[in-house]
Amino acid sequence: MAIKVGVLGIGFMGKCHFDAHGANKAAKVVAICDTDPVKRSGDWSGIAGNIGGAGKKVDLKGIAVYDDAKKMFADPNVEVVDITLPTYLHAKYAMMALKAGKHVICEKPMARTSAEAQTMIAAAKAAKRHLFVSHCIRFWPAYAKACEIVKSKKYGKVLSANFYRVSTLPTWSWDNWLLDSKRSGDCALDLHIHDADFVCYMFGKPKSVTSHAVGFKKGRFDHILTSYEFPGAGLVTTEGAWEYAPQFPFSMSFKIVMEKASLDCPSDLNLKLFPMKGKPEAVKVPAGDGYTLELKHFLECIAKNKNSDVLTTTDALNSVKLIEAEMKSATTKKPVTVKF
Ligand SMILES: NC(=O)c1ccc[n+]([C@@H]2O[C@H](COP(=O)([O-])OP(=O)(O)OC[C@H]3O[C@@H](n4cnc5c(N)ncnc54)[C@H](O)[C@@H]3O)[C@@H](O)[C@H]2O)c1
Repeated sequence: MAIKVGVLGIGFMGKCHFDAHGANKAAKVVAICDTDPVKRSGDWSGIAGNIGGAGKKVDLKGIAVYDDAKKMFADPNVEVVDITLPTYLHAKYAMMALKAGKHVICEKPMARTSAEAQTMIAAAKAAKRHLFVSHCIRFWPAYAKACEIVKSKKYGKVLSANFYRVSTLPTWSWDNWLLDSKRSGDCALDLHIHDADFVCYMFGKPKSVTSHAVGFKKGRFDHILTSYEFPGAGLVTTEGAWEYAPQFPFSMSFKIVMEKASLDCPSDLNLKLFPMKGKPEAVKVPAGDGYTLELKHFLECIAKNKNSDVLTTTDALNSVKLIEAEMKSATTKKPVTVKF
């Protein structure tokens, strides 16, 4: 039987999760909740983001529509609450949903601060409910495949790795929360955390970070460059930016140099392996996108009452801690030891 999901927050990610659950036979969206009456009417044409097309009108027949999260949490038909609210609301609503006895899937970053993320973990434990955080890059096929190749050590140790993610300035969010550092944590916590989390997935926990950042406004981080000190890995760097001009295409990519081969994943996500000896070859990766695959995985874990072997809540908490260390390094202009 399909797991019954309530999606909380129908913005860029809420629409994306709604569609992803719709593509999964093991999921059924039975409820949605948003404070915006236009979204509740099924008119999602105003939804925008840095990837995917514009929103459209959606038929919500058969789906319970709520204007207040508390009402959705009281709906016995909802088994899992999928939180796609602005970041600063994650902790508050995740804890309410857990207390109401729901399992929770929450968009990344886990919370606005690591202290808040810690309270979410405690709430899930107390409620004996599952809590998963949607770090989709761990599930994105080209990234997941590269991780498998690196961890197999088939091509030796990693000498260097660089991960790159850029977007235009996100001017499309509800109440412009993304451009408010206090609510979003800037490009560092919102966009760049994808790669910060992924390098931990691939290389473990970094000892220290050195970051540099710039922003349109003083004190705001719209572009961040980081190098990580990973025991056993070489030079690992990331670049995340969202200050590019309108119309500049979103792109994510990476390059990894191992002793016996190099991996290139350009923005079309066609992963290619360049061996030291022999011809370059396309690397076969499974079909699908990170959103659909992660949500399917989390619902499977809930159905089987097991933890995820890809991502724990501690991993998601650590990624928030890592970003806090990176922001501290960018502010103090000094390397920062990461306290996990
Ligand atoms: N995984 C990814 O690739 C990815 C991409 C973009 C955003 N995100 C994350 O997803 C989350 C949501 O971002 P977004 O871009 O979809 O935001 P958004 O601004 O597009 O949408 C937020 C929605 O929440 C609704 N809302 C606000 N307060 C509410 C409340 N109290 N109750 C019910 N609804 C409420 C708003 O009306 C709006 O529809 C953020 O944490 C963001 O970091 C993840």
